[in-house]
Amino acid sequence: MKRLLVILLVAASATAPVVHGGAQGHYGIALKKPSTAGMDLVEALGARRSVRAFSDKPLTNDDLGAILWAAIGVNRAGGKRTSPTAYGRHYMKLYVISDTGAYLYDAEAHRLTAVPNAGMKKDVATQAYVARAPHVLVIAADLGRFPLFVTGREDRIRVAHSTAGCVAQNVYLMAAALKAGTCMVAGVDDKGARKALNLTKDELPLYVMPLGYPAK
Ligand SMILES: Cc1cc2nc3c(=O)[nH]c(=O)nc-3n(C[C@H](O)[C@H](O)[C@H](O)COP(=O)(O)O)c2cc1C
Repeated sequence: MKRLLVILLVAASATAPVVHGGAQGHYGIALKKPSTAGMDLVEALGARRSVRAFSDKPLTNDDLGAILWAAIGVNRAGGKRTSPTAYGRHYMKLYVISDTGAYLYDAEAHRLTAVPNAGMKKDVATQAYVARAPHVLVIAADLGRFPLFVTGREDRIRVAHSTAGCVAQNVYLMAAALKAGTCMVAGVDDKGARKALNLTKDELPLYVMPLGYPAK
């Protein structure tokens, strides 16, 4: 019975397309939190790998929502998150760039907010294959959101990289569980990403992660 429920839930989520603006408005996309990914943790760890060739098919809205929730979603009362974060501060920012727009993930509301006048996938990565994925996740840190007692910029950056590693592993695992694919990529075009996403001077783009279903 439980197995049937899992299959039904996965089948239902697979039919929901990602909507870019349009029907759900230009400024935001509501997401759904996953109730299951249909694969247990040991299987997902067994399936985890870096994927660098993608099908053109965009992720379903449900799969994208599940991956973002796994990355930095709220999983408890009090606004705490699925990935650990130093000092309990929420300085990680996740952007998603698709063919038709770029969005900032709002973890509290579990929705995407459109970035006005955004650039494109190719602007944010130095490795060409990244932009061939239907979506590119940009993991950025807002260095202005650290507690004041962390005075050194280098200290903030070091901690932000560690936190990004936790976020990325969650993305890998949820992607594996959903039979989607991704890769952690350090080849970030800093200038391009800043311009494409209108980043503030405190926001540092750290990694990009192409996202989609693996090419057959
Ligand atoms: C911090 C970090 C940076 C990485 N940067 C890149 C990168 O710039 N380009 C890329 O294609 N893969 C990158 N990778 C992915 C690794 O190449 C990949 O994890 C490794 O080859 C092992 O393969 P697997 O993930 O399939 O096990 C990076 C991985 C990590 C953890």
